[in-house]
Amino acid sequence: ISGEAHAAKIIFIAIKLNGVQRGLISEIISQFQCKGFKLVVIKIVVPSKDFPKKHYHDLKERPFFNGLCDFLSSGPIVAMVWEGEGVIKYGRKLIRATDPKKSKPGTIRGYLAIVLIILFPCKNIIHGSDRPETAKDEINLWFKPRELVSYSSNAEKWIY
Ligand code: PPS
Repeated sequence: ISGEAHAAKIIFIAIKLNGVQRGLISEIISQFQCKGFKLVVIKIVVPSKDFPKKHYHDLKERPFFNGLCDFLSSGPIVAMVWEGEGVIKYGRKLIRATDPKKSKPGTIRGYLAIVLIILFPCKNIIHGSDRPETAKDEINLWFKPRELVSYSSNAEKWIY
């Protein structure tokens, strides 16, 4: 993934273990897709024990770091890349506050989750990159270059 303008239009989204186990994959995909965003890559992975430390490297000093990492490597995760104008800004709004209790009803965490559960496990269903730089790093961490497909969709002319 390269190019500054393009970087602003892509986000890494992960549906965490509790979202997968509760059967919320299609609901979450549908929320991004109905808005008009394009699903570029998707896979289900069980991250290795050490992998989450790379993903959450900027949170090492936090008291919940170990719990957050353990949770990410404790089962299947749906890893995705979504593309579209303003996808990071809108995606973060759609996901909303870290704590589902503080998230509004129409948002993913507000609609689909009840509590965060302080420290472990972090039951807020979904992760989304917060900035273009983070999105780029996370996409490069979770996907190999050959997995990153690029395609044009006929829907785009009706969206933009
Ligand atoms: S920050 O740094 O806390 O302000 O940022 P935030 O995006 O809110 O949180 C970063 C990730 O840490 C998780 N988190 C927690 N996990 C467990 N317990 C507590 N108290 C807690 N607070 C924050 C939060 O869900 C974020 O992980 P992701 O995977 O992005 O959801």
